Order: sequence, then C-alpha cells, then structure tokens
Amino acid sequence: MVKLLFSVMCILMSVSGFAQEQIKIKHGPYLQNLKETEVTIVWLSDKPSIGWVEIAPDDGTSYYRTERIKFFDTVNGVKNVSELHAVRATGLAPGTSYRYRVYAREVLSRRGEEVIYGNATAPSIYDRRGLKFTTNDSSKSVASFVMLNDIHGNTDYIPKLLAAADFKKTDMVIYNGDMLNNLLDEEELFKGFMDISIDMFATCKPLYYARGNHETRGSFATSFHRFFSPKEPHLYFLIRQGPACFIFLDTGEDKPDSDIEYHGITDYDNYRTQQAEWLAEAVKSREFQDASFRIVIAHMPPLPETDIWHGQAEVLDKFVPILNEAGADVMLCGHLHEYFNNKPTDKVHFPVIDNSSNTVLKGVIKRDRLDIEIRDMSGGIVDTISIMAR
Ligand SMILES: [Fe+2]
Repeated sequence: MVKLLFSVMCILMSVSGFAQEQIKIKHGPYLQNLKETEVTIVWLSDKPSIGWVEIAPDDGTSYYRTERIKFFDTVNGVKNVSELHAVRATGLAPGTSYRYRVYAREVLSRRGEEVIYGNATAPSIYDRRGLKFTTNDSSKSVASFVMLNDIHGNTDYIPKLLAAADFKKTDMVIYNGDMLNNLLDEEELFKGFMDISIDMFATCKPLYYARGNHETRGSFATSFHRFFSPKEPHLYFLIRQGPACFIFLDTGEDKPDSDIEYHGITDYDNYRTQQAEWLAEAVKSREFQDASFRIVIAHMPPLPETDIWHGQAEVLDKFVPILNEAGADVMLCGHLHEYFNNKPTDKVHFPVIDNSSNTVLKGVIKRDRLDIEIRDMSGGIVDTISIMAR
C-alpha cells in the first residue's frame, strides 16, 4: 500500500513538474500598426514571462543562418514580466518582407534583485500560419483592403465575409468596431474574433482596428488598448499604404456621457475634443498631404443628420470640419447595421459609406481612383462605388 501511494505521488509530481515546465504561447502572435518602417507584434503566453521578437529579412537565407536581431518587450528599459507581450520592431525598410519569431521565457520567481527563470517557448519557424509580414510602402501604385464591422459576436461571419471579399489578395484587414456585444475579458476577445483572425491572417497580414462603442463597455474596456495599438499613445492613429493615407478614429460611445447606461464611467466628450486636436495636426502631416486618397475609418458615422445621436453629432461637430478643410476623400463607417452610401452634403463634403453587419467592404486604391465594392455573405455584389482623385 505504501509502495502504491509512493508510486502515485511520484506520477503526480512528475506530471505537475512536467506541466510547470511547459510554458506555451496561448494566443497569437498577431500584427498591429504595421507602417512603412515599423510593426508591433502581440502575443500571449500562459505564464508570467519575459518576451522578445526576432526579426529576419525574408531574403532566402536559412532562418538559422545567423543570430537574428532581437526586440524585447520592455518598459523604460526593464523587461516586462507578463503573460501579454507587445513589441514594436523599428528601423525596417518600406515595402520589404521580414520573417519573425516570438519568444516567452517563464519567470518562476523573484528574490530581491534575482530573477529565477524557467523554460522558453517559441512557435516553429515552419509555423503553418506563416510568421512574416511586408512593411507598407507609400510608393506602391496599388493598395487594397477589406473592412468588417458590427459582427457582434457572430464569429462565423468572419470567414464568410473575408472569403466573399477574396481577402487573401488584399494588403490589409480593417475591423471597424463592435466585433463583440460586450468585451468582458481576454478569453471572450480571443474566442469571439481574435483566435479565428490569427488563424486566418493576422500573423502575416496587418489587422487595423477602429474601436466601436460596444468595445467601450464593461470593466475590460480599459484593457482594450493593451491588445490593440498597444504601442500607440492612443487608439487613433494614421498609416500610409500605397497611394492612400488612412486615418483611424475612435468615435467612443453613442449617447451622452451622463446616460444611465454608462454608470458615470465615461468621459468621451473630452476624449473626442482631445482627439480632434490630434486630428488637426495629423492632417498637416506629410503622410496625409502627399497621399492621393485620404480615407477615414470611424465606427460611428456623422450621418444621417435627422435623428442623429449624441456620439454621431460629436463626430459631425468635432471631426468633420477638420476633415472637410483637409480634403478627406471618404469616410468608412459601421454602427447602424445597414448599408448606405451618403453622398456629400453641405455639412459633410465627402461620401460617408456605412457597411452593414453582414456585408463586407473591399477597396482597391490606385493613384487616380478608389474602387469600393460591398458584398453580401455569399459574395453577391450589394453596391460598387468609384471615387476619382481630386
Ligand atoms: Fe456600434
């Protein structure tokens, strides 16, 4: 009996010891804020760890030819001990392909200044998803994108809509908000839309995310920025790709901040005011000024003018005058769960195209024209729009 107990204890100890040793990457990696000379890469391990990324040019050499350049996940020079890792790799060349590999090395304990490490883990360099990316290139003559929004937890819409738009042939995927009804924790985020996105494209094709109002709700709302645009100062940002400059705005919530639904936790009026100050400077940048097309991505449209809600009215009052003045070519929105193409008006000098929750918008930008197609889930054309360069 004693022998049997001893054997069982040995087995249990070896199993738990084995389990302790095996740190894993549980989500990711995925690309964020891919630009002409930098990219941010995000991944999650299942244990507190330090993390780093290796970057190797995609030049036909064996990945193991030489030690590859490392970028560590750090805060002010100290490696971040966390399950969640985000690294910005900089100094890249525009329009150039790179391979990458992410690592997590378990931190078992800290004793004073000493750090006790466990094992490290990394995806195989032969990972079937393809751990590589191509930096954006403003001198490229054609660029393309697909945009989904408002799927509200209908995870099965994602592969159908991406396939309907033949997304594999496009440069980037845009999520324009409300991918879930409520973003309450990390597992919901990954189960709801990120695991499938990582599996289908986000390891190698850039995913740009404009936050919707449903991502602003619940206690996890303040964590959103740790997963999306984590190395940007805010959730709004600007990128160049080919002839286009894209401005991603964060339109916040739709009702007044004092509304009972927000339980006194929101301050979006001030946030949108600060964002408008950033926008007024962003449109003066060379990236915006030099682009043949200026495309604005924003979850809540500044229309329709009749029966407009507070958040949309704020977009109309605070962002649109700056964009009118700066010569925005089009604004792509969601939120209303209905496709429409609002032609330019006296107040909004550019078309505002609203993609529905069960349609996908695809754009192909050349120097002289922007062609937009809206397709339903089976690939049928809902509308096509062409916008000529000014
Ligand atoms: Fe919405």
